[in-house]
Amino acid sequence: MASQAPAEFWLGKETLKVPMKLFALNRRRLCERLKKNPDVPKNAYIVLQGGEQQQRYCTDTDIVFRQESFFHWTFGVTEADCYGAIEVDTGKSIVFVPKLPESYATWMGPIHPCEHFRKKYHVDEVQYTCDIANVLASKKPSVLLTLRGLNTDSGSTTREASFEGISQFKVNNTILHPEIVECRVIKTDMELEILRYTNRISSDAHKEVMKAVKAGMKEYEAESLFQHYCLARGGMRHTSYTCICGTGNNSSVLHYGHAGAPNEKTVEDGDMCLFDMGGEYYCYASDITCSFPVNGKFTPDQKAIYEAVLKASRAVMKAIKPGVLWPDMHRLADRIHLEELTKIGILKGNVDDMLKVHLGAVFMPHGLGHLIGIDVHDVGGYPEGISRIDLPGLRSLRTARCLQEGMVLTVEPGIYFIDHLLDKAVADPNQNCFINNEVLQRFRRFGGVRIEDGIAVTASGMELLTCVPRTVKEIEAFMAETPEFSKSF
Ligand code: GLY
Ligand code: MN
Ligand code: MN
Repeated sequence: MASQAPAEFWLGKETLKVPMKLFALNRRRLCERLKKNPDVPKNAYIVLQGGEQQQRYCTDTDIVFRQESFFHWTFGVTEADCYGAIEVDTGKSIVFVPKLPESYATWMGPIHPCEHFRKKYHVDEVQYTCDIANVLASKKPSVLLTLRGLNTDSGSTTREASFEGISQFKVNNTILHPEIVECRVIKTDMELEILRYTNRISSDAHKEVMKAVKAGMKEYEAESLFQHYCLARGGMRHTSYTCICGTGNNSSVLHYGHAGAPNEKTVEDGDMCLFDMGGEYYCYASDITCSFPVNGKFTPDQKAIYEAVLKASRAVMKAIKPGVLWPDMHRLADRIHLEELTKIGILKGNVDDMLKVHLGAVFMPHGLGHLIGIDVHDVGGYPEGISRIDLPGLRSLRTARCLQEGMVLTVEPGIYFIDHLLDKAVADPNQNCFINNEVLQRFRRFGGVRIEDGIAVTASGMELLTCVPRTVKEIEAFMAETPEFSKSF
């Protein structure tokens, strides 16, 4: 009997319905690009290998599967151990699924026929992975285009498709990667809809956390509440990255929350919180940071640093539009930070001179923001012809591109008081002439402030995707209200 699976991804209740035509459009866009590429002959086939189900080390305990990002972008397939192929000339698509043993039905549930997957994913053909060489040989491809390329954030190389029998084909592994990466950089309207959703749910989850935070709790309770909200209300089983829930001085540790520092400190009255968390829906990411005082009321110093960062964020958002160079946005944020730190009294002297000695990078050692999509640090930051700028701060940028309509990025300025960076600056005669050491001492255990939002570049400016209280007044008013979600769970 034919399966009734609808041609959309949906987790019921209020979660977002994602139509399979999103992936059909992605495939069409990719084929159109490849058809224009003079190095692609007639009757070429794209071949991608999906992610594999993995176990914990040598055990038989499965790690919750998350699809490989390029494969997800192309097919939207949620199952592990699949392959996919596309005939470039026609756009016809084939998904290959594993032929499962009878025991699968006992341990994992029903074994679906190929027709089930064909309807579920709206592809032209579904075959078994064990038949991939024979199926592809019957199509007489001129060349198989496989995916090999560098991820410019991690330095890792994609694992290109391989299967028994591939040696009988002519394979090209260099053409596909830059083309598919460029497709991923510009989001379609349907992809933008998912990113709006991931931002909305994650924003609401942050707001629940803000209301629930109080002195005496552990940082990991904030992580727990965020994850609970994202899954219970948003169908987000994964977060896009490890939750960063730094309070007090931990808020100056840029990627706090890892296994060696697992959000384990007790939250104390007077601490600043820097909570950087983002839920992921159907492999699409979000990345949001909220910084606020635990007790809901900013001290004058907390307010001053917070408003300096907010001023940088607002200035960058106002300047964003197609044609703008991302490193210039980073420089703009640096300039505002330095101006404001001078007004606070931590710095003294001429801001242009401070910029010449890269003083901004002492307080914001990371990049202003990055492309985001299926990966939180999305692909395409440094295509051929665009180089990393090898200067403090700027070298941490995950992209140095010129902005285009349809790009989605984070804007995440921050000011941090990181002891070892401050010690170095204080010891550096080129930089210490700008530092008021006595005032700086007051901020030594302050931690840091980051304000991180997701934005989409539009034809004339940008669309803000994140929606959380941002001004000091908004945060204080919001935190004074009673918690809602936490009461009901
Ligand atoms: N949460 C990682 C980042 O902000 O890029
Ligand atoms: Mn980020
Ligand atoms: Mn972040």
